Amino acid sequence: MKTFQKLCVPGLLAMVAVCTSAQQQSTELKHEAAPVTSAASGSEMYKNYCASCHGKGGKGDGPAAAALKAAPPDLTTLAKRNDGKYPAQKVTSILQGKEKLVAHGDQEMPVWGPVFSSVSGRSEGIVDLRISNLNKFLESLQAK
Ligand code: HEC
Repeated sequence: MKTFQKLCVPGLLAMVAVCTSAQQQSTELKHEAAPVTSAASGSEMYKNYCASCHGKGGKGDGPAAAALKAAPPDLTTLAKRNDGKYPAQKVTSILQGKEKLVAHGDQEMPVWGPVFSSVSGRSEGIVDLRISNLNKFLESLQAK
């Protein structure tokens, strides 16, 4: 087997680690344990758990996007697509896994509730704090 240089992106690898081979132009997804992050920092959680697919700035252009069947949505237009109001409640239910994102086939977006629970020592209060700080961070990314 040919060995090829792997350009992994540290910091962006949460559930999904992305390795792009320079020669083969392919992106490979590896599912890894989510790192523990500070529940107080929406941006740190976003960078570790979400940016690999949704992109650093939320535009849906993360390095893992190419390896997915469904394009990760642009998260900077959540408000625009909801009459100008950031849909905090909807994002909360999506992250808790209460809202299904795809009616048919596989949802590619990981269900975050159990992941957040495991990196929060199973404390519901900390899970709520994580979701609330991620919401604040996502709200700050909204396009005007
Ligand atoms: C493995 C790639 C991947 C990761 C990591 C990921 N997402 Fe997603 N996300 C998707 C995809 C793909 C969709 C579209 C639905 C589907 O096909 O599953 C989506 C949909 C969404 C939606 C619905 C958007 C809309 O327009 O309705 C929100 C909100 C969202 N993701 C937030 C997040 C947050 C917050 C994180 C980090 C905690 C995250 N995602 C991590 C791939 C990902």
